Amino acid sequence: MVAAPETLGPVTPEEARLLEKLDLTRLPRHVAVIMDGNGRWAQKRHLPRIAGHRAGTQSARTTIETCARLKIEALTLYAFSVENWRRPKAEIDFLMQLLREYLRREIPLLQKNKIQMRFLGRLEELPVAVQNDVRDAMEKTAGNEGMVLCVALNYGGRAEIVDAMNAILEERNGHGASSKVTEEQLSRHLYTEGLPDPDLLIRTSGEMRVSNFLLWQIAYAEIFVTETLWPDFSRARLLEALLEFQKRERRYGGIREDEPSDEKPARAAGH
Ligand code: FPP
Repeated sequence: MVAAPETLGPVTPEEARLLEKLDLTRLPRHVAVIMDGNGRWAQKRHLPRIAGHRAGTQSARTTIETCARLKIEALTLYAFSVENWRRPKAEIDFLMQLLREYLRREIPLLQKNKIQMRFLGRLEELPVAVQNDVRDAMEKTAGNEGMVLCVALNYGGRAEIVDAMNAILEERNGHGASSKVTEEQLSRHLYTEGLPDPDLLIRTSGEMRVSNFLLWQIAYAEIFVTETLWPDFSRARLLEALLEFQKRERRYGGIREDEPSDEKPARAAGH
């Protein structure tokens, strides 16, 4: 289904200019975001790092609502990585608290936009109170048929692949199955099971790294890195990222469809 241009409600002149150029029939199906730069945003303002995280929740809200209204199928936000436990305890506690607050406060907005929530990561290692809120948010939004919002929480890309392999081994135990694992089978055991792979990966604050995020799933994703710090990532910046995505040519290892060629492709996919 394609979104109507007026779906975003009142827009600024800048957003209107960007929307005019955007082809709403060719949006990415799944957008993944590494929300980086909260700390630097706060530092620039001589504020504590946690002020940057708080400001970052507003950017998360705007991104979630805009993607849902544009009828993007899935949005995945990297909220807390398995490496983030190395941060000071006070910052970790604040991030967990912020997430709990967000989950409690935003459920009505999620329901209004028919958003279904999922969480990607080793959830069983999170504080029990967070686990309860996570479960609650998933249960309350399970029947929603709009965008799937995935929050990566205690997430690591390598951990996810290891978890998938162990799930496959566990399934096989007792069944004596010994055939080789296929890509399709592994995909089905990832936390993102059933979702299309991200076709656009956005990273804010200029770092050129993938940081252990969706390692398997981003195999063919277009990567968009912006210098903008996450708390400054407005709706206009998101529309710019979508426009940039539409300028890229996606070939999946093949050649352009309109490129002259004497032969049919030897195989369905390449690199
Ligand atoms: C990276 O900035 C940001 C995080 C580790 C946390 C992201 C969390 C939020 C934006 C809050 C809420 C999210 C949701 C889904 C409600 P950084 O601290 O690494 O910044 P720095 O690199 O400038 O230090």
